[in-house]
Amino acid sequence: HQTKTPFPQDFLWGSASAAYQIEGAHDVDGKGPSVWDVYTKIPGTTFKETNGDIAVDHYHRYEEDVKLMHEQGLKAYRFSIAWSRIYPEGTGEVNEAGLKFYDKLIDSLIEYKIEPLVTVYHWDVPQALMDRYGAWESREIIKHFDTYCRTLFKRYGDRVKYWITLNEQNIFVGLGYQKALHPPGVKDLKRMYEANHIANLANATVINSFHELVPDGQIGPSFAYSPTYPYDADPKHIIAQENAESLNAHWWMDVYAFGRYPQVIWNYLDKHNLTPTIEQGDFDLLASAKPDFMGLNYYQTATIKHNPLDGVGEATMNTTGKKGSQQESGTEGLFKQVQNPYLETTDWDWTIDPEGLRVALRRIESRYHLPVLITENGLGAFDTLEEGDVINDDYRIEFLQKHISAIQDAISDGVTVLGYCTWSFTDLLSWLNGYQKRYGFVYVNRDENGPKDLRRIKKKSYYWYKEVIERNGLEG
Ligand code: BG6
Repeated sequence: HQTKTPFPQDFLWGSASAAYQIEGAHDVDGKGPSVWDVYTKIPGTTFKETNGDIAVDHYHRYEEDVKLMHEQGLKAYRFSIAWSRIYPEGTGEVNEAGLKFYDKLIDSLIEYKIEPLVTVYHWDVPQALMDRYGAWESREIIKHFDTYCRTLFKRYGDRVKYWITLNEQNIFVGLGYQKALHPPGVKDLKRMYEANHIANLANATVINSFHELVPDGQIGPSFAYSPTYPYDADPKHIIAQENAESLNAHWWMDVYAFGRYPQVIWNYLDKHNLTPTIEQGDFDLLASAKPDFMGLNYYQTATIKHNPLDGVGEATMNTTGKKGSQQESGTEGLFKQVQNPYLETTDWDWTIDPEGLRVALRRIESRYHLPVLITENGLGAFDTLEEGDVINDDYRIEFLQKHISAIQDAISDGVTVLGYCTWSFTDLLSWLNGYQKRYGFVYVNRDENGPKDLRRIKKKSYYWYKEVIERNGLEG
């Protein structure tokens, strides 16, 4: 019977959001359109044609939302800045009104002693840059992204000490260029790997800029990591699992941490003419940028079997990612994803696996020797608003409780964990699932048919997490 190591005293108990999913005010105070403003208006792209024009109207209600965070005792709040509020055209004239909005938000968080954790990019690239040169598909974006980030670092670097660069690069390139579910909505692996490499260069560039401009701050990317398990001890499945782990995780995290791509996957992609174009100096740049932590978005794990050459071949990557359902999918000759007989799934068919979070944390520590900031973890579920404005989300409490316990196990194992941000603070727009897939501690009274009154209602989990924060963990 072992006692667990307590959470550190300065552990960042937090919660998270992203601009497009909460702000609304899509054309207010000089904001330019992002790719999501445009993409969600194309019929058939989202659930019941939902978009973020109003979202949960956080832009106009941020004071109320921050008060709710304060009342809950949050130590940290992760949010993202909308690039096209700051540079409506992606580049060119800076929009002072956009900068002011985030000034006010940051100041009110600080007033309540809530540490702001700022994501500079949560998928909403300015549409102007998509139109001009295909956004992440052109190296042009590196300097524009750097200018945007330098503006933020200079403006907020005195008050914001934790920064996240790219949110889930693996997901935005995978869904954007392989599965055609996110903008730009294409299926083209060559373009995906090219855009991904350019995103890596942009990520490295702004990490270096940050260290120059905010030397006392910390910065890192947020990776959507779904650890893989071999189906069983058959060596064929072991190799397949290693393939999946490398293709879906090392392909990104090795670049962030070491500045190089994993060789096994490089060889595989090379055989299929899918490796990105490398220019002189690329690897020097990638290796020069050292993240201060690995941001981890954890939702689920994936279970892997051998896949013969004539096997399931529909998709290559991200099929084992959190966005994949549990149906069989994979890459011929590399691996396939199968159901895990030990795990239950959510309403959206994602595995529920708290132990997988411990696995994720240990693997990151072992391979990269970096502290981890858990930037997302949570349960998307249908919630019921009961009489008297009550939401009894015991299932969410159970989910979070088990994941927090797994984090404490990992801390006891020796992993340095800086903080834990649940996804999400208020309910918000799920990119492809409208408003019915709820994640928040705070219910927002709206649905796909309209914004209703948008009133905020504390769920049972809101009160439960308040106590966790007060106790600095589950015990005591
Ligand atoms: C992550 C994103 O992919 O998971 C969030 O960073 C997203 O923006 C969250 O909302 C949950 O995904 P979904 O598809 O359930 O909304």
